[in-house]
Amino acid sequence: MPVNSIHIPTYPYYINGDWLESRSGQTIDIYSPYLNEVIGKVQAITKDEVDEAIISARIAQRDWAIRPLQERAQYLYRWADELVASKDEIAATIMKEVGKTLKDAYKEVTRTAEFIQYTVEEALHMHGESMRGDSFPGCSKSKVAITDRVPLGVVLAISPFNYPVNLSAAKIAPALISGNTVIFKPATQGTISGLKMIEALHRSGLPKGLVNLVTGRGSEIGDYLVEHDSIDMISFTGGTSTGINIAKKSVMIPLVLELGGKDPGIVCEDANLFESAKQIISGAFSYSGQRCTAIKRVLAHENIADNLVQILKEETMNLSVGSPKDESMIVPLIDHQSADFVQGLIDDALEKGATLVTGNKRSKNLIYPTLLDNVTMDMDVAIEEPFGPVLPILRVKSDQEAIDIANQSEYGLQASVFTNDINRAFRISNNIEAGTVQINGRTERGPDHFPFIGIKKSGIGSQGIRRSIESMTREKVTVLNLAE
Ligand code: NAP
Ligand code: G3H
Repeated sequence: MPVNSIHIPTYPYYINGDWLESRSGQTIDIYSPYLNEVIGKVQAITKDEVDEAIISARIAQRDWAIRPLQERAQYLYRWADELVASKDEIAATIMKEVGKTLKDAYKEVTRTAEFIQYTVEEALHMHGESMRGDSFPGCSKSKVAITDRVPLGVVLAISPFNYPVNLSAAKIAPALISGNTVIFKPATQGTISGLKMIEALHRSGLPKGLVNLVTGRGSEIGDYLVEHDSIDMISFTGGTSTGINIAKKSVMIPLVLELGGKDPGIVCEDANLFESAKQIISGAFSYSGQRCTAIKRVLAHENIADNLVQILKEETMNLSVGSPKDESMIVPLIDHQSADFVQGLIDDALEKGATLVTGNKRSKNLIYPTLLDNVTMDMDVAIEEPFGPVLPILRVKSDQEAIDIANQSEYGLQASVFTNDINRAFRISNNIEAGTVQINGRTERGPDHFPFIGIKKSGIGSQGIRRSIESMTREKVTVLNLAE
């Protein structure tokens, strides 16, 4: 719904059911990462407008929370239907705005509709519990606690650029179904895709004020939002430094933070090397490595490292490189600054003695998939999250050394262990500091009803459909004191 669409469309923000132009008169240009041109302008809203959004969410929440669950469910089902009905337009927008292939963009929209439907079904089957007092010494069974879950109030949902629809709806749907209202702050690069998703929600007939889309740079309105005393919960997905800033600034409210990662792929001597390599390559390089759950380092046992590197090299050289519109696996990174950062990691590793297996080629913000062997812990690429298509290989002498290196990281999102020995897999898994360990599979978030957890600097709290609903509600206990 562009405000003016003569050449470059200008998009509105959305509060209290209305699509508006900001009184700031300021807009932000959105550049396509592969078209290298401005594809739209979004509103840079003012702090007063943020206040208006939060007030409307707060007022709307009172009525929404007391509506029957079945009634809330119907709106969300309609939202899922509307997303599916407009999937062509939304997928095309995702491709243009964040440079994902059309196939992946379609998958994101479909996954989102399924996520919303599952969220409704999960909520419909969540029930409270009751407890009798007499199981505690000296207490009477005439005291009965009834425990239910109630919404927290106004949820602030802040999403990253790389899943501009899915990781936004993954916050909005559980918030709404459980009786909360939402302030949605999309990543600036991702705003247009997020807005298309909200247009679908608007078409579902959702009552006004329940979801409010506030647009503008996180550096300008972010702190104001997270410090706002009318926000009752923050659900944030994005980079670790942004997450830490949010944790420092928000006071006394529940937080779920899903942050960066440096997921290791540990390859034991007994692993099936071809299968492991396939999983590693898809884990490391899909969407050019711009996934929090990408495999970001390989820890290979020295006895199989030469063979593994050879297979990884062949697989990497076969990857398609180019434009998302040609369905290339390796696409331009989100911006030039990100490409500079990845190139810096490659240069640093090569200067310090890493072996270039393949890659180290660049065209603007397109970085060719790069494999680096003989990487050591003094190289930045062994430590830092690249969010780009570079994969370092560190050779290890034992499982214990792999575990030690895996844990020598500030991150703890996921890890993969490749072995044919289930006991060995469990031994390693039990000692890895990560929210999830995948045995013989790539690191990834889905299926979306699984708990998704980052520990250390990869996050606080848990997502996954049921966990997200729980994080946006609290227990409320009513105690019946019956006559003896
Ligand atoms: P980012 O730069 O941290 O931005 C994330 C969101 O935070 C954006 O909406 C951004 O808005 C906003 N923001 C920026 N400054 C803020 C502030 N002071 N207060 C509040 N919000 C603020 O991350 P990104 O570049 O979009 O995404 C890449 C990172 O996200 C990677 O580190 C990746 O690993 C991580 N990630 C983690 C997960 C996970 O589930 N663990 C999933 C996806 C991505 P602007 O865009 O306007 O700056
Ligand atoms: O970028 C972070 C996402 O949570 C990753 O999701 O594993 O489904 O690609 P994914």
